Amino acid sequence: MKQPLKGRRILITAGPTREYLDPVRFLSNPSSGKMGYALAEEAQKQGAKVMLISGPVGAYCHTPPPMRVIPVTSAQQMYRAVMQHAKQTDILIMAAAVSDYRPEKTSPHKVKKRPGPMTIRLVRTPDILAALGKMKRARAQHPPEADQPPAEAAPLLVGFAAETQNLIKNARDKLLKKNCDLVVANQVGKNHQGFASDQNQVFLLDRDKNITRSPLTSKRLIARFILRHIKKLLSKR
Ligand code: PMT
Repeated sequence: MKQPLKGRRILITAGPTREYLDPVRFLSNPSSGKMGYALAEEAQKQGAKVMLISGPVGAYCHTPPPMRVIPVTSAQQMYRAVMQHAKQTDILIMAAAVSDYRPEKTSPHKVKKRPGPMTIRLVRTPDILAALGKMKRARAQHPPEADQPPAEAAPLLVGFAAETQNLIKNARDKLLKKNCDLVVANQVGKNHQGFASDQNQVFLLDRDKNITRSPLTSKRLIARFILRHIKKLLSKR
């Protein structure tokens, strides 16, 4: 098999995060990890050295060796793991569904029921994609010396956008605001695509204002479709 990504170092995030209220309750979302794992497996088959940073996913998500997998639970843990490894990477693909909020306090013990409503104060989690966009901007402004390895150059940054409305507009806003090279936009909240499904349909938005639509197909083929577009962008650099 051809290995068009040979020598590339790719960091991929996958799955949901969990933000615990107490040891038995958490805020999360329906991400299964299938999209991120399909990307990781396909990138490795194409010769890339892959690191997968994964939220809690089901047993059906597995990774072939020698892929390195770093398991995390919360958005803060995912942020720390990504920032620790992002510098040694050529391509960053943020497919995880990261919680935007977490409870301000996590109780060490199970919270007992009381009469009446309960109020939980939520605070923002770190925006990993935005932090990578800033890191990329800083690196582009201070390019490496000629004798430094290529991984020190600004990495290619790929974000996802999961939307229930105004898909293309919201995805374009994310592309620009978070300084991405590519955004993979998908409609969620529909049957047979997006969260937890075996299939997906995506729109790829790049900085040249191209919008490329995939068919509704398996996440494995969607992964190939996304990687093909990434290779095209890399060849233009
Ligand atoms: O896992 P599956 O069941 O296969 O489902 C796949 C998927 C629907 C989860 C996937 O295709 C997808 O859309 N992933 C991104 C989900 C998401 O969180 O989208 P968003 O529009 O809320 O976030 C935009 C981008 O910012 C994403 O790249 C996300 O990883 C990133 N983000 C979000 C919040 C945060 N605090 N930090 C982030 O980095």
